[in-house]
Amino acid sequence: MELIVAVYDDWGIGKDGTQPIALSADRKFFRETTRGAMVIAGRRTIEDFPGKQPLPGRVNVALSRKEAEIPGFTLCRSPEEVLKLAENTQRAMVIGGGSIYRLMLPYCDTAYVTRVHTKPESDTFFPNLDQDAQWYLADTLQSGEENGIRYEMLLYKRRETSGLNAADR
Ligand SMILES: NC(=O)c1ccc[n+]([C@@H]2O[C@H](COP(=O)([O-])OP(=O)(O)OC[C@H]3O[C@@H](n4cnc5c(N)ncnc54)[C@H](OP(=O)(O)O)[C@@H]3O)[C@@H](O)[C@H]2O)c1
Repeated sequence: MELIVAVYDDWGIGKDGTQPIALSADRKFFRETTRGAMVIAGRRTIEDFPGKQPLPGRVNVALSRKEAEIPGFTLCRSPEEVLKLAENTQRAMVIGGGSIYRLMLPYCDTAYVTRVHTKPESDTFFPNLDQDAQWYLADTLQSGEENGIRYEMLLYKRRETSGLNAADR
């Protein structure tokens, strides 16, 4: 399983249910990277989708314990249900938010991380992969500047471990 996230300099990812600064270059990168994939999001993140609608051209999976249904989304009630769905798909990508990244990170081996070099106030954070020995920076895919803000799209990979499965991590 893979994940995609945009982080500010302090690895903040959002405030008050939304992203305080979002770059159009990153939106484009997100669209292109997730095209055709199964995308997995928490219920709060879905509330921030345009019109609260599923993302077109992707299979939309929502995680919620309290909702009975969310139109346009396949509803999962646990990470186990997500893993089961993902078994039958070619590409499954976790797209947030904070609680769902934390929940699903142990099952991911690839992370697309856009570093957005600014530091607005955040109330939701992504784990700092530079300080996590299980992950390493594998590649810089893109970089640029928008509205005076530098950004880089980075690819992190999980280090190979022997004898450990995701549940033991
Ligand atoms: N920078 C980025 O790339 C990026 C990407 C996505 C989101 N974000 C930001 O992240 C923030 C939202 O993150 P968040 O942590 O507040 O919310 P979230 O992770 O999007 O969603 C939380 C919801 O997921 C459901 N959930 C959590 N754990 C679950 C479990 N074990 N089983 C089933 N359902 C579970 C619950 O829904 P119910 O309450 O319905 O039970 C919970 O309220 C926003 O600020 C958003 O803008 C940033």
